[in-house]
Amino acid sequence: MTLPPLSLYGEARWSELVERVLARSWHVVASIDELPEEALVARTLLPGVLDEPLLLGRIDGGVRGWSAVCTHRAAVLEPHGEGARCPYHGRRFTGAGRCVTAPGFERPGETDHLRPVSIATLGPLVFAAIAPAMPFTALFPEERLAWLPALPVLSDPLGEASFEVDAHFLLYVENYLEGLHVPFVHPGLSAALDLGDYRVEPAGWSSLQLGVAREGGPSLHGPDGAIAAAWVGLFCTTMLNHYPWGLSVNIVEPLGAGRTRIRYRRWVRDPALLEQGAGGALEQVEREDGAIVARVQRGARSRLARPGRYAPRWEDGLRHFHQRLAELLETPEKMVASVGLEPTTPRL
Ligand code: FES
Ligand SMILES: [Fe+2]
Repeated sequence: MTLPPLSLYGEARWSELVERVLARSWHVVASIDELPEEALVARTLLPGVLDEPLLLGRIDGGVRGWSAVCTHRAAVLEPHGEGARCPYHGRRFTGAGRCVTAPGFERPGETDHLRPVSIATLGPLVFAAIAPAMPFTALFPEERLAWLPALPVLSDPLGEASFEVDAHFLLYVENYLEGLHVPFVHPGLSAALDLGDYRVEPAGWSSLQLGVAREGGPSLHGPDGAIAAAWVGLFCTTMLNHYPWGLSVNIVEPLGAGRTRIRYRRWVRDPALLEQGAGGALEQVEREDGAIVARVQRGARSRLARPGRYAPRWEDGLRHFHQRLAELLETPEKMVASVGLEPTTPRL
């Protein structure tokens, strides 16, 4: 079976990927510790690409989100007090998205309240989707990960870091989804793994990869053995990396057809294990991945490049990802409607 055409990674298909894939997927938009009680927080979903202004708030113990676009003439709202206000003509909204003041009108109407967006939380992470083609429950394979220890809530004192790579976000994600490159690109990481027992388990809108620990290295107790790392790729911009010391999250932010920002944060359960095993030198591994995907990007632009074949077993997660991608690219309206979302508003 052949890999996708290399035109997928070019400028010509960029807007199609943005509208049909990114606009209909779930993305990490905040972490719980960034959301105070009784105030809304402004966030932008995929800045510069989707560029959707959102307001997030904690209500009744849960997180909710709204489009931060004013329901009058579309100015972007700003948080104010416990709610939000419009700097253009002064509309005000409560922390629950209700319009309470609408200058120029006798009273706010039913269509003046903020438009909700889909929100889901997973451990410390807050996900948002503006028109999801799949429910969040299809994204996270909870039953297959029940053996993992509870997600740690203590944030890494080093805080958030980010770096950019000269590559299409799909190339970065594809690289994440296969372990075939590990012995060639990551000699340090390879030393912590028993690569003969590397496992890939694609399912739903995710892919799980299990790296079995070398004898004596730090490990998690998996269903059938000592696991050095459990890498969980959630379609299509979130990577949850479970190590014996805790959780590292990669958030992929596409910036254009040849540039991608990766933000990452760590939540530490056992600081004593931080420098050890498969999760011990993450910056080094990231640098190695960034360099190799930039090299793929350059090759993919070649006029002489042709797609190759999937490596059996090793690239099962990659093939699964491409199947899901193709579903979104080929059946846009049907899939959005199937999860009960509003149809898009007709153009004027
Ligand atoms: S655009 Fe917000 S009140 Fe007019
Ligand atoms: Fe890698």
